[in-house]
Amino acid sequence: MQSAARQSVVVDGMALAQELRSQIAAEVAELVAAGRRPPCLAVLLVGDHPASASYIRGKHRACARAGISSRDHHLPQEASEQEVLALVDALNRDPTVDGILVQLPLPRQIHAVTVIEAIDPAKDVDGLHTRNAGRLMAGLPGLRPCTPLGILEVLDRHKVPLLGAHAVVIGRSGLVGKPVALLLLERHATVTICHSRTRDLAALVREADVLVACAGSPLLVKGDWIKPGAAVIDLGVNMVDGRQVGDVDFDAALGTAGLITPSRGGVGPLTITMLLRNTLEAYRSRTGLPPRGA
Ligand code: GUN
Repeated sequence: MQSAARQSVVVDGMALAQELRSQIAAEVAELVAAGRRPPCLAVLLVGDHPASASYIRGKHRACARAGISSRDHHLPQEASEQEVLALVDALNRDPTVDGILVQLPLPRQIHAVTVIEAIDPAKDVDGLHTRNAGRLMAGLPGLRPCTPLGILEVLDRHKVPLLGAHAVVIGRSGLVGKPVALLLLERHATVTICHSRTRDLAALVREADVLVACAGSPLLVKGDWIKPGAAVIDLGVNMVDGRQVGDVDFDAALGTAGLITPSRGGVGPLTITMLLRNTLEAYRSRTGLPPRGA
């Protein structure tokens, strides 16, 4: 059937994020009104990666607006792995710190896995420690990575059916691709994980009821690959000729997709929101409060 007359829902990630952040802020305000200290997130940046500094500013701003206190730790580009590990150790031991986020990428001389493994899993608000990643794999509760949680929030909010749906994930990173595939599987989707070596990507994408593009490859997914009515989640943030584009050709997919997230203002604001939620969850668990919704 010709799809020219179709309308795509373009996800307003900022509006959804604002709504969820107000709920988080209300929950924090209630805890503080009851005489408790606010939750606290420590953010650790090593070096001067330009995008990282701007992401971190956004994280601190969102914490402040939600009433969550945040600490900024900035080590120089030439810091040694020992210095980073010493700081992580101090934050692990600090009882007033609930969440620790080590901004990635780290400078070359620092082994990211070693640093992430040094974080107390109860404070690992990125959900990247092997204890939390393993618990996700095993279907046990734990802290989950923020972007995959944000993706599920978008899909749920727009009532995208996942049970029995074919979800195609392009990308296999530990930060997004692998965990989102597991979360979708947990929700009874049939999941295909694709990557740079996948043969005939177009044919697989054409089968997708839900497409998650997190390959970091500008405009990889063409408009005519999209199954009519599919939910298209684009995590790509790529600069091409001074313009930000996603991994999906948004303009070409518009009209065919049932729902689509833009590269700017799509899932991004939800990632920070889920960081706030994870920090609050870590706080609740560390201070003996029941988990949210329990
Ligand atoms: N760099 C880009 N995205 C992320 C993220 O979600 N967490 C961390 N720690 N670093 C990042």
